[in-house]
Amino acid sequence: MTHLSINALTKRYPGEEKPAIDSLSLEVESGKLVALLGPSGCGKTTTMKMIAGLLEPTSGDILFDNQSILNIAPEKRGAVMVFQNYLLFPYMTIAQNVGYGLKMRKVDQATIDRRVGEMLELVKLPSLGDRRPKELSGGQQQRVALARALIVQPNLLLLDEPLSNLDAHLRFEMRDLIREIQQEMGITTLFVTHDQEEAAVLSDKIALILDGTLQQYDPPMGFYESPKSRAIADFFGGVNFVTGTQDKGRFTSDLGAWSAPRGIEAGSGLATIRPEDIEICEAPGENVVSGNIVSHVYVGTHSRLKVDVGAHQFHVVADAGIIKTYGTGSTVMLHLPAEKIWVLPHAKD
Ligand SMILES: Nc1ncnc2c1ncn2[C@@H]1O[C@H](COP(=O)(O)OP(=O)(O)OP(=O)(O)O)[C@@H](O)[C@H]1O
Ligand SMILES: [Mg+2]
Repeated sequence: MTHLSINALTKRYPGEEKPAIDSLSLEVESGKLVALLGPSGCGKTTTMKMIAGLLEPTSGDILFDNQSILNIAPEKRGAVMVFQNYLLFPYMTIAQNVGYGLKMRKVDQATIDRRVGEMLELVKLPSLGDRRPKELSGGQQQRVALARALIVQPNLLLLDEPLSNLDAHLRFEMRDLIREIQQEMGITTLFVTHDQEEAAVLSDKIALILDGTLQQYDPPMGFYESPKSRAIADFFGGVNFVTGTQDKGRFTSDLGAWSAPRGIEAGSGLATIRPEDIEICEAPGENVVSGNIVSHVYVGTHSRLKVDVGAHQFHVVADAGIIKTYGTGSTVMLHLPAEKIWVLPHAKD
């Protein structure tokens, strides 16, 4: 399979001052699935199109296995792109849609029929080959689009928000199916999404792009445990931030001094801790603050609390049943585990 290298890739659309994607560099190891994650308009589709050969870069390079592919025709690159809106051929049957790539390659009909059968089996649609696209549900059409891409055994699979038109249940099902097939076939895959949870569940690594610029490239856990900036922490649902000073693993703020060994070593800092990492406790102690519960939302599997602590408000995810012990207005002690606090440099944001 293909090792993908992207070197300082930039795209400036004609007449635009700001590049849609600015000096993106990324290594995707052979057989891995990487999510390109970011909000609408950050440059995800632009990047995918350049890799697929549908759009010419302004500068920079793209290499498959250390060979630049910029001068190679799109259909010879061995990359296939699956678009958000599937783009199935409406007048062809499902089997003809899936077999299209092989027909273009002049493969004999018996082989095409066999491979189409295998592909429809793989995406769990074995009996629908004779139908037309409009006779299929959105989720089924999505699976046909995937089968049509996979049948040519691409070196690189480019999936542009393939799940965004599906309801929650189908999304989960398709997400698992894509991961299963991708791992089974070992295809290097780039998967575009603006959903951080989807990115975390699916991928080996996430490339977070904000406003055309790569912000962080790490395995999913890195974004939750050690985001590189406040904007990244925000994007991943981090909401608790306290400014202060970091020195030798101790973080001092208007809420006192905490043990906080992770993050910057010294200087002006921004301590962050995720709502689900804060623990409600019964006794004062190291890294414990006391506050008042100002709101309480029961979500079924858990409860969301807002707790005023001094001049700060902490968001806390607690056990669903916590409301039986602590109602709105009650005083509560919060333990901020030292190993869960992450101290960012402050001046940057
Ligand atoms: N053909 C074009 N000409 C000029 N600007 C464009 C063109 N295509 C896209 N853009 C701009 O480039 C930026 C990136 O667009 P792109 O389609 O790559 O975003 P995206 O991350 O895929 O967003 P979404 O999640 O909404 O699909 C946007 O500001 C967009 O308006
Ligand atoms: Mg897009």
